[in-house]
Amino acid sequence: MLNSFRLLALAALSLPVLAQSPTYHVGRAATPADIAARDITVGPDGTGLPAGEGTAAEGAVVYANRCEECHGPEGRGADQGGFIGKPADLLGDSPKKTVGSYWPYAAPLWGYVDRAMPFDRPGELTRDQVYSVVAYILHLNGLIGENDKLNAETLPKIQMPNRDGFVPDPRPDTP
Ligand code: HEC
Repeated sequence: MLNSFRLLALAALSLPVLAQSPTYHVGRAATPADIAARDITVGPDGTGLPAGEGTAAEGAVVYANRCEECHGPEGRGADQGGFIGKPADLLGDSPKKTVGSYWPYAAPLWGYVDRAMPFDRPGELTRDQVYSVVAYILHLNGLIGENDKLNAETLPKIQMPNRDGFVPDPRPDTP
């Protein structure tokens, strides 16, 4: 019994050998499905945003259940920072960076919440829940209405208040 189990295990181990890396002879080539599961970056222009939809009104419920314990009621901050602000909050000795004051683009907010939040259980929200809670954060900042539908088409079009607040680094590149 044990021997035949070992043989099976050996047979299973030898299968992926063909796809091992030619240099180090370990691992196996990533399949398109492996790559798709990790290819979750969302660009400023909305590249990578999946299908789905949500409104701030729906997001308020997601927020109360999954975010408020750390980020405070209505995004005003608690243990963790809040989300509401305007670019003028960046002036002075203690600049306050929030989604409203600092983030230059709206679409990457979807990617960030999708991969990193809730902080203690990332990856649990559905795509619609991510759209709706992002809509809620944008609504708290006065950028969209409560019932505006946020999806892959509408989200990248939202102009963030600090969109033009970033300047190119003037230092020369180091070779
Ligand atoms: C258990 C606590 C916790 C929960 C619950 C939580 N967060 Fe967070 N959140 C954090 C922490 C900690 C950070 C800072 C992470 C870092 O800097 O790497 C953060 C950062 C963020 C940021 C970035 C803020 C900025 O201005 O850069 C956003 C946006 C965010 N969270 C959204 C959410 C949303 C939406 C939910 C609910 C779906 C949520 N969080 C639930 C702890 C939490």
